[in-house]
Amino acid sequence: MLITGDKDEIRALAQSWRTSGERVGLVPTMGALHEGHLSLVRRSKAACARTVVTIFVNPTQFGPGEDLSKYPRTLENDCAMLEAEGVDAVFAPPDGSMYLQGHASWVLVERLTAGLCGASRPTHFRGVTTIVSKLFNIIQPHEAFFGQKDYQQAAVIRRMTLDLDMPVSITVGPIVREADGLAMSSRNRFLSGEQRQAAGILYRALCEVCTLAEKGTPLEDCLEHLRAAILSQPLAELDYAAIVDADSLEPVKDLSRPAVAALAVRFGPTRLIDNMLLPPGRTGDS
Ligand code: PAJ
Repeated sequence: MLITGDKDEIRALAQSWRTSGERVGLVPTMGALHEGHLSLVRRSKAACARTVVTIFVNPTQFGPGEDLSKYPRTLENDCAMLEAEGVDAVFAPPDGSMYLQGHASWVLVERLTAGLCGASRPTHFRGVTTIVSKLFNIIQPHEAFFGQKDYQQAAVIRRMTLDLDMPVSITVGPIVREADGLAMSSRNRFLSGEQRQAAGILYRALCEVCTLAEKGTPLEDCLEHLRAAILSQPLAELDYAAIVDADSLEPVKDLSRPAVAALAVRFGPTRLIDNMLLPPGRTGDS
């Protein structure tokens, strides 16, 4: 497995694979890898002859006062995990190397980035779409793999590739969870024991709403239940609870079309997100 921080080296290697007709898969990450990331690596390995994983804690997607400086960095351990998975190459550019002095270009996806996480993190998605575009340009993968854990991110990236005719297909893998349902996240390690236990409320609340939706419960009651479930947990501070259209991410009037319930919740300084697809219910006609 090649490990490099050199853009030219990874570009040349990926280019050589493409030239010899091998399908190249890309799994972009910020490191501190867990089973959620590895599930994407396995999907890429299954679909592509070659898999590149990128590890880069992208400063432009962190807002002022967010956790950039304390974002976990475990490169050696990450590379050992990726080697064991049979990854072909890891691109881990050094801090500072992806944005040259004078950087002035950004990729902006409108509308889809306005709500949910975009409302409380206004510059976040601009950072994500810009770094992902850069990684696509360097590696030029046939297929790139993202997790449903970051539902809005995956929707934004899919929109970007369609709108800008990027020749890469986007595959979204399911959320990998801990035994109690908490979505795996590099940030879970910051939770105290008490907060970690309390954080199980996100998954429980989403499951409850899913059951309510299946039964044909009206949207407003589903949403109220989601909010109330989080507010009932004293250690949790709600950033948002929303039920939006699964494609457009716009607020929905009822649950007649596929929707997604999405949450962002703080436990002390640690902000967790989670979501669940709601099957089209029978609201209004049951
Ligand atoms: P990061 O948070 O490291 O996540 C990398 C990829 O792993 C993302 O596509 C994310 O959705 C997926 N992932 C994380 N936790 C998961 C889980 N529990 N189950 C399934 N997939 C999971 O997302 C980013 O990095 C960055 O924004 C990035 C796209 C790399 C751009 O900097």
